[in-house]
Amino acid sequence: MRKKVPVSRSGRFESGPDAEVAKFTESVSFDWRLWEHDIRGSIAHAKMLGKIGLLSSAELKEITTGLKQIAAEIYNGKFKWNQNLEDVHMNIEAALTKRFPSGAKLHTARSRNDQVALDMRMWLRDEIKALQDEIRDLQRAFLFFAERNRDVIIPGYTHLQRAQPVYFGHHLLAYVEMFDRDFSRLEDCWHRTNVCTLGSGAIAGSTIPLDREFVATELGFVDAKGKPRITQNSMDGISDRDFALEFGSVGAIIAVHLSRLAEDLILWASSEFNFIKIADAYTTGSSLMPQKKNPDIAELTRGKSARVIGDLMSLLTLMKGLPMTYNRDFQEDKEALFDSVDTVRASVRVVANMLRAVTVNAAACARAASDSALLATDLADYLVRKGMPFRQAHHAVGAAVARAEKQGKELHELTTEEYKAVDSSFGEDLHRLFNLKKALSRRSIPGAPAPIEVQRQIVRWKKILEIS
Ligand code: ARG
Repeated sequence: MRKKVPVSRSGRFESGPDAEVAKFTESVSFDWRLWEHDIRGSIAHAKMLGKIGLLSSAELKEITTGLKQIAAEIYNGKFKWNQNLEDVHMNIEAALTKRFPSGAKLHTARSRNDQVALDMRMWLRDEIKALQDEIRDLQRAFLFFAERNRDVIIPGYTHLQRAQPVYFGHHLLAYVEMFDRDFSRLEDCWHRTNVCTLGSGAIAGSTIPLDREFVATELGFVDAKGKPRITQNSMDGISDRDFALEFGSVGAIIAVHLSRLAEDLILWASSEFNFIKIADAYTTGSSLMPQKKNPDIAELTRGKSARVIGDLMSLLTLMKGLPMTYNRDFQEDKEALFDSVDTVRASVRVVANMLRAVTVNAAACARAASDSALLATDLADYLVRKGMPFRQAHHAVGAAVARAEKQGKELHELTTEEYKAVDSSFGEDLHRLFNLKKALSRRSIPGAPAPIEVQRQIVRWKKILEIS
């Protein structure tokens, strides 16, 4: 019988770390969640070792059987994680070797340095795909909202001051555009993550003729044509965490987009705006004030963007001073990356569901949109159509606004004579401009909020999002 080899510490060490040091250095309490990818990576590596003649078929069988047994145990919550074995990689390998001594051959020509980079890339690939699905669902929720309220007009705001009227749907479709850019940013990040590091070893590859392409193909690190994608420099392979930084950045952008949306929802749900009602399930009461219904879920979404931004800062700061190549500091990348992924995914899901449960207060929206000052620009355009230079038209309408304000009237309440007194170019037909629906129909150039254009965008998105 072969001698059992301890996995945790090499022959160089006489004693193990003391308890406090073990606690300080361990990562298994959080990197255990890489177990499935770690095992898949190990099985692919073992198959490759078998292929190049370094594992007999009996050994390969033992190793894959053992790894699958361990996977089942972890899945069923029966596996005992041991902090003294530091991380997920050593826990699994130790359990394997305990079962089958041939497990001691698994780490041939592999280092935890290329193993951990591999596991993280595999894990992140899956998370990105899942998040992309969730982003699509969020976009569908916006579309549902936009379609249901397609006739509702609200003031659009700049500087949080009423600016020009828009259809509610137009405002919502702006978010669909934002999240679509996030979707494609995730796509880019996925492609750069989808490169296999195994075979980089600890830093300088291996003297053993590994078949890196085989491993990459086994693990789905392939391009659109099915060609394996492997890292081209062993030092870069183990010390690159760009994929984590990139996800952290995309995650932060998504979180910021969600935060801006949350702010819109919070404002709209206030008594001052009163444009929407958020369903009870997404609000909470006050322990003191009986009348309160607070938009806590939107507020938490806004608040959680702070930690996602913080995660990105942690990752960037972690990397910035590290010499090539692997440094144990890297271990600190995991919690930030995990938190960023978890927080963003949870936020996207909860916001999508909340949007589906928002109802619009059409009367309040109509009241706000009936403010005729929203059509001041239309009035200037009217003068422009009569041949007046825009700067002059802007000045004339500004004077009319000032006059209305002084008389305590709304813009549409000034008489034609009063307009003419401001500027003789104003004609009898000017009051026709104060028809909100018509005013919106005139904004029919691409990207503008005319009903025909909003409808065109809805149809376009329904096709992209496969909504029937
Ligand atoms: N737990 C380690 C990490 O997360 C795994 C790699 C350890 N490598 C090493 N040379 N100590 O980075």
